[in-house]
Amino acid sequence: MSHSPVIPFRVPGAVLCAVTGFPVSHSRSPFIHRAFAEQFGLPLQYERVEVRPGLLSSTLAELRELGCRGVNVTVPLKEEAAALATQASVAVQATGAANTLWWSADDALCADNTDGVGLVRDLTRNWGMSLNGHRLAILGAGGAAAGVIPPLFAAGVAGIVLINRSEARAEALVERFQSLGALSTLQPTGRVASPVDLIINATSAGLSGNTPTFPSTLLSPATHCYDMFYASTLTPFLAACRASAGCTELRDGMGMLVEQAAAAFTLWHGLEPATSVVLSALRAR
Ligand SMILES: NC(=O)c1ccc[n+]([C@@H]2O[C@H](COP(=O)([O-])OP(=O)(O)OC[C@H]3O[C@@H](n4cnc5c(N)ncnc54)[C@H](OP(=O)(O)O)[C@@H]3O)[C@@H](O)[C@H]2O)c1
Repeated sequence: MSHSPVIPFRVPGAVLCAVTGFPVSHSRSPFIHRAFAEQFGLPLQYERVEVRPGLLSSTLAELRELGCRGVNVTVPLKEEAAALATQASVAVQATGAANTLWWSADDALCADNTDGVGLVRDLTRNWGMSLNGHRLAILGAGGAAAGVIPPLFAAGVAGIVLINRSEARAEALVERFQSLGALSTLQPTGRVASPVDLIINATSAGLSGNTPTFPSTLLSPATHCYDMFYASTLTPFLAACRASAGCTELRDGMGMLVEQAAAAFTLWHGLEPATSVVLSALRAR
């Protein structure tokens, strides 16, 4: 049996996977991946590993030494993970951020970003939305916003307006992705002529209990409101949408979390887990 400071106890015969982040104690990934593994009778040891920024490379080397098959990466290590990868997917190349790592047969570090596919699956499969021809607003211009823009255009959205506190960051995303479709920026205090079909909060404001400033003209009672942030009660952003415009179609990002995990699980193990049962179990916790 192998021991190390990274994984103090190795379960004999189990496939080893891990989630890294700083902090990482809040991560729901162990619960989700263990629930997926149970569906297939796959013996899985999935651990949380706290990694200080700048130390991901040495931690990955140690995990690999222990026979680790796959590693999830969360805030604030996604950019560091992308930079370490020797085989980066199109999504990682487009966003500069990776949330899923594994090793090829010849030991190359491979990276993907499953956040985008996770969001689109949650919107379309779980929430039943059709994105085709829809107009969207995205609040935020960080790694999460960058990761979802290409798959949203690929799913057929007609246009996306980006609203970010630091406008320069939103403009940089427009420059990077303008070849994909109609993409523009708007100031948080700006006005739009007509409301959007879907508004997505991709800021981290919810982590501190806040709601990002955004133009109220983006909302009508029919606007679908999605918050990548999730909580056991209605998030501040979703509560604000309901209070200010009477929106009733409200969804938080727990489904995205489960769907991005499912995509990672498939990359590592070649198995497609059922997600709705795991999402229900997670919400019931
Ligand atoms: N559900 C899921 O599976 C999932 C997956 C990925 C991410 N997420 C969530 O998505 C969020 C963003 O993640 P990220 O990786 O993109 O983070 P990030 O790269 O750090 O970007 C944070 C973004 O939030 C904005 N922001 C932060 N505080 C704000 C405030 N008080 N008011 C307005 N804007 C504010 C920042 O604006 P500035 O540029 O002006 O600083 C920036 O655009 C996090 O809450 C994360 O948990 C969820």
